[in-house]
Amino acid sequence: MTPPTRAEALALDSADPLGPFVERFVADDPNLCYLDGNSLGRLPVATVARLRQVVEHEWGKGLAGSWPEWIEWPVAVGDRLGASLLGAAPGQTLVADSVTVNLYKLAGAALAAARAADPARRVVVVVADEFPTDRYVLEGLAGGTGGALRTVAADAVAGVDPAAVTAALGPDTALVVLSHVAYRSGALVDMAGVTDAAHRAGALALWDLSHSAGAVPVGLDVAGADLAVGCTYKYLNAGPGAPAFLYVAARHQRRLRSPIQGWFAQRDQFAMGTAFVPVDGVERFAAGTPPVLGLAAVDEGVALLAEAGIDRVRAKAMALTDLLVGLADEWLAPLGFALASPREPSRRGAHITLRHDEAWPVTAALVTAGVVGDFRAPEHLRLGPAPLSTRYVEVWDAADRLRRLVAEGRHRAAVPPAGRVT
Ligand SMILES: Cc1ncc(COP(=O)(O)O)c(C=O)c1O
Repeated sequence: MTPPTRAEALALDSADPLGPFVERFVADDPNLCYLDGNSLGRLPVATVARLRQVVEHEWGKGLAGSWPEWIEWPVAVGDRLGASLLGAAPGQTLVADSVTVNLYKLAGAALAAARAADPARRVVVVVADEFPTDRYVLEGLAGGTGGALRTVAADAVAGVDPAAVTAALGPDTALVVLSHVAYRSGALVDMAGVTDAAHRAGALALWDLSHSAGAVPVGLDVAGADLAVGCTYKYLNAGPGAPAFLYVAARHQRRLRSPIQGWFAQRDQFAMGTAFVPVDGVERFAAGTPPVLGLAAVDEGVALLAEAGIDRVRAKAMALTDLLVGLADEWLAPLGFALASPREPSRRGAHITLRHDEAWPVTAALVTAGVVGDFRAPEHLRLGPAPLSTRYVEVWDAADRLRRLVAEGRHRAAVPPAGRVT
C-alpha cells in the first residue's frame, strides 16, 4: 500500500465526527504526539473545573456536611459507568480501590463460595502472560486458601485461544480470570464464548477490563459475565491513582462475601455494631472510605465517553490503529519492527505493539522526539492512540518521527537505563 500523506491524515481529522473531542482535553504542547493513552489518559478540561468545585466548595466550604452526597458516588458513578460503557444494568458496578484490591476481593469471594459448595472446586485458570498483578494476586490467594492455579499458554501476538481455556476447565475449576484486551499485544478475547465455556464447566468468569473500558464496547450483562474489574486512569481519563471499578452480576451478590470485611460494606454502617453483617447489593464489595476526588474525576471521564458514544469511540480506535499498522508496515518493517498485535482491527483493542530488538532505547529516544509511547519488556514498544484525545495526524507524525529516528540511528546516541519512560 502507498502510505497516506500528511495532508491525507489531516483530511481524516477534518472528517472525524469525534474530532472536536480532542479540544476537550488539556494539551499544552502542540508538538507532542501522546500515544500513551493506554497507560495514563489525558486530563479532560472539565475535570479541572470539577475537581476545583469539589475541593473549594464541597470540601473547603461544605466540610463533613458534604459526606451525605459523596457517600452515594461509588454506586452512582458505577451505575453511570456500567450503563454507558460496560453494558451493566444498575446496582452491579462499584467504583472503589485499585484493580489489584478489587481482584483480590472478587476472586477471593468466588473461590470461597466455590469451595463451600464443593471442596474439590479450588482451581483458578489464568493465562501465563496475564498482567502481573493479576497473576500475583491469584497466586497469593491460591497459596493462602489451599487453591491452585492452572496456567494456560497464550500466543504473544494473537492472544489466548478460547479452545485452550476450555480445555483447561474441569470439575475442579472454580474461576477463570482473563483480560478482555491483553495488556501487551492488545488481543481481544471473545467474552461471551469464554464465559459460556466457564459456566458449562460449573465455574465463574472474572474479566479484567483495564484495557477495554472506554476503548471497546463491553457487554457484561449480555455476555453473562459473573465478575469484572478494571481501572479508570487509562481510557476513562480519571488520572493517576484514580479508583478502579468492580462488577458483580446481581445474581451472585447475595452468596458472595468479600474477604475484606470493611465498614463501608456493613449493613447500617453508622450503628457501629460489633458483628459484621454485609449490606445487600454491590456495596458489600466496598472496603473503606471512598476516594472522593478520584471519584469526581471518574465521573467526568465517563461523562465525556458517554457523550461521544462507545460505538463511535470503537470505530475511531480501529481506524487509528489501522493507520498506525499501515504506516508501520511501510516505514518501520524495513527498519526491524514487527507488528506484535492482531492485524485484524476487530481482534484487538485500542493499542498496538511493535517488536524491535532495540525497543528500549527506541522508546526512550522517542520521548526526546516528542513522541510518548511505552516500553514493555523485553522488546516491545506499545502505542496507544486514545480515540477521544488523539488526532490522525498525531499518529502520522509519531510514525514519521519514529522512522527517521531509527533510520538515523539517533536511538543509539544516549541510552538511559532500562525502565519506564512514562
Ligand atoms: C490489565 C491490568 N490489570 C491490572 C492493572 C493494575 O491495576 P492497579 O494498579 O490499579 O491495581 C493494570 C495496570 O496497568 C492493567 O493493565
